[in-house]
Amino acid sequence: MGISILGWGTALPSKIVTNQDLEKTLDTSDEWIFERTGIRERRIGSHTADLAIEAGRAALAHAGVEPASIDLLILCTTTPDETVPATSARVHHELGLGGGAFDLNAACSGFVYGLVAANGMLAAGNSRILLIGAETLSRVTNWEDRNTAVLFGDGGGALVLERSADEGQLLAWDLGLDGEAREILKAEVGGTIEMDGREVFKRAVRVVVDSATRTLEAAKCRPEDVALMVPHQANIRIIQAACDRLGIDRERAALVLDRTGNTSSASIPLAWVDAIAAGRLAEGDRILLTGFGAGMTWGSALVRWQMPVPDSQPQRSGGTGGDSHGE
Ligand code: ACO
Repeated sequence: MGISILGWGTALPSKIVTNQDLEKTLDTSDEWIFERTGIRERRIGSHTADLAIEAGRAALAHAGVEPASIDLLILCTTTPDETVPATSARVHHELGLGGGAFDLNAACSGFVYGLVAANGMLAAGNSRILLIGAETLSRVTNWEDRNTAVLFGDGGGALVLERSADEGQLLAWDLGLDGEAREILKAEVGGTIEMDGREVFKRAVRVVVDSATRTLEAAKCRPEDVALMVPHQANIRIIQAACDRLGIDRERAALVLDRTGNTSSASIPLAWVDAIAAGRLAEGDRILLTGFGAGMTWGSALVRWQMPVPDSQPQRSGGTGGDSHGE
């Protein structure tokens, strides 16, 4: 039993903030930002639920499934719109989904945690899951702090997942956390992100490499077998350092951070869908997802690529749409 990917979708706010725009309000430059991070511009605006709804709706349409046939929504976000209720409540309602919903906060590792959680919930009896990573980091950014304001953006990405009878597409995974490092990257309730950038950088490369190595070993897969690496989009130098240490060609990394900045749990689906749209994936390819973030969390997953088979029906059948599951 495993995961089958049926469809995907993304959402980005329309407002673009370029490095040149930031030069007007901060003591910074396009040159500094691009050289140190790889970011040229980011999208800003909207609410987390709105981006989640847009990405989720696009994924459902792409998969050709009825919203009511979804029997679980997992919304990965570290920027919920409200403390109570969970942001997934509004997303679930407005999309007309069946079953239940919950928010998952594992910071920038959120989407990988969500994928692994979805795998477990499908094994536990769910039939179809909508997995979304959506963030509005602009709402927790101090726009007067050049150390952080140049890094973040808003966005969303979603996958429709279904239980498959065979091994499925998720081949191996590794999740971890070092709670001792929770002070190096944090935002108090109602506050903005504070970060020790150098410390995050140093630790990020280490945990990404260790976690990815464990995942590849678990799947008996060599670095050269990885056709596409989809890393969390925080900093091009972290991505390149991780690729070099893992022995994965830098050209194999999926990149959108030049256009989006760091969108936390939305960054992996945004980069993944961008690579799909660019025709970078072939049947059977091995895809390595790697995330790290506040906590400090990390997560890696190895996925086998398989194009969804278009269903002959206008809407795919299946999914219980109910609240309870079990054999
Ligand atoms: N423009 C110009 N100068 C700047 C800027 C800026 N925007 N920001 C910092 N500087 C200055 C610093 O003040 C420092 O000046 P000093 O030498 O006079 O003290 C100098 O540039 C170098 O600063 P460093 O911090 O050493 O720069 P570094 O090369 O480490 O790059 C950065 C900083 C980009 C933040 C990097 O450390 C990084 O990417 N760290 C990881 C961040 C990350 O991945 N965060 C994950 C967030 S995930 C989540 O959960 C939200």
